Amino acid sequence: MSLCASFNVFASYSPKPKSFFRDSKLVSQIQVNSSALTSTFQIHESSTNLRFRRRRLKPISSLDAGISEIATSSSFRNKNPSDINVLVVGSTGYIGRFVVKELIKRGFNVIAVAREKSGIRGKNDKQETLNQLQGANVCFSDVTQLDALEKSVEDLGLGIDVVVSCLASRNGGIKDSWKIDYEATKNSLFAGKKFGAKHFVLLSAICVQKPLLEFQRAKLKFEAELMDLAESQDPSFTYSIVRPTAFFKSLGGQVEIVKDGKPYVMFGDGKLCACKPISEQDLAAFIADCVLEEDKINQVLPIGGPGKALTPMEQGEILFRILGREPKFLKVPIEIMDFAIGVLDFLAKIFPSVGEAAEFGKIGRYYAAESMLILDPETGEYSEEKTPSYGKDTLEDFFKKVIREGMAGQELGEQFF
Ligand SMILES: NC(=O)c1ccc[n+]([C@@H]2O[C@H](COP(=O)([O-])OP(=O)(O)OC[C@H]3O[C@@H](n4cnc5c(N)ncnc54)[C@H](OP(=O)(O)O)[C@@H]3O)[C@@H](O)[C@H]2O)c1
Repeated sequence: MSLCASFNVFASYSPKPKSFFRDSKLVSQIQVNSSALTSTFQIHESSTNLRFRRRRLKPISSLDAGISEIATSSSFRNKNPSDINVLVVGSTGYIGRFVVKELIKRGFNVIAVAREKSGIRGKNDKQETLNQLQGANVCFSDVTQLDALEKSVEDLGLGIDVVVSCLASRNGGIKDSWKIDYEATKNSLFAGKKFGAKHFVLLSAICVQKPLLEFQRAKLKFEAELMDLAESQDPSFTYSIVRPTAFFKSLGGQVEIVKDGKPYVMFGDGKLCACKPISEQDLAAFIADCVLEEDKINQVLPIGGPGKALTPMEQGEILFRILGREPKFLKVPIEIMDFAIGVLDFLAKIFPSVGEAAEFGKIGRYYAAESMLILDPETGEYSEEKTPSYGKDTLEDFFKKVIREGMAGQELGEQFF
């Protein structure tokens, strides 16, 4: 499914921040029992990589002095990266894996939270996950259960300085979005904060500026509560909210089909939407910048890749040019999607279980008609000029790579987007 767009009036959505911190016992409850000193990650003890990784971690300097000291300190920005513990949740995702690599490359102590069965449809076992996250301290836990997550972090016997969340529902469905993009992300904030975190970096999405889908509403609710926490309740706590445009994986789905001689399929005239695609590597570097850079504190940061914004038509033209073929397009009326969604919405009123299918239809419709660019509140139109660019990887180079090597590692999995 390619991400596309048209210009639409901004439908403003401002979730009321419901303060989940005001009455929380987070900071006061910080306690670590003696088992923290001896506890281990739930990983293969025999792994030599593990032994190496565990040695790299800086434990809480003196547990006797108490984590509370760490919890009140905001000085992590003055430390060397090797003394900064970064908890990454969503570490096994398309972006999360690159974020882990980038943070390790920059010398941070990375604690990567993962499921025992990770990846698309849980295809990776523990060992495969450990291999993927080499250099990080892998903590197998359950981000959907606050108690379990807190216990896992407590068992590390470490203070946390920064939490980076790349969590996302794997299918974008209604229930799962609220469970992951809101609840589990909130759990990671609670757990990190309880053990001293002073900064939270959130991977969000540029499309939340025009929220018509449940996953966008779930993300926005968390964003609003995070901002409220930092700006009203605990000024010593900070955030960076990263809202990227389209990922390469979302735009590469037709490369192999076109390579096989089929037409490039697009909705409407192929100019309904545009985006500034960004690679996993470039986005991971931007997210890693957010850990320490002061100009990214308490900021909402929309971000795209290098170069001009591209419509689906232009993406198709690039692809045909690389392949040395005459462009061959198949234009599909967007109304087809409206009809299908209308039918599903009607059925959902009678059979509630159809509601999720209708939501998936709406997700497809959204990306066929909405640009992944800054929505200018003054004009109500998407603006290429106002959408910042970062990095160096281009969609053209990505297409060339897919033509050579296929889409391995770029699978959408259970996602539509
Ligand atoms: N696709 C685009 O073009 C685009 C553009 C802009 C923004 N975004 C946003 O970018 C974000 C991340 O995307 P991505 O492609 O990196 O996501 P992804 O590959 O689907 O990764 C999702 C991560 O969340 C974890 N997760 C999901 N459900 C979980 C559960 N029940 N329990 C524990 N962990 C769970 C996954 O763990 P497992 O490996 O264990 O499943 C994985 O680490 C999304 O919020 C998306 O909206 C996407």
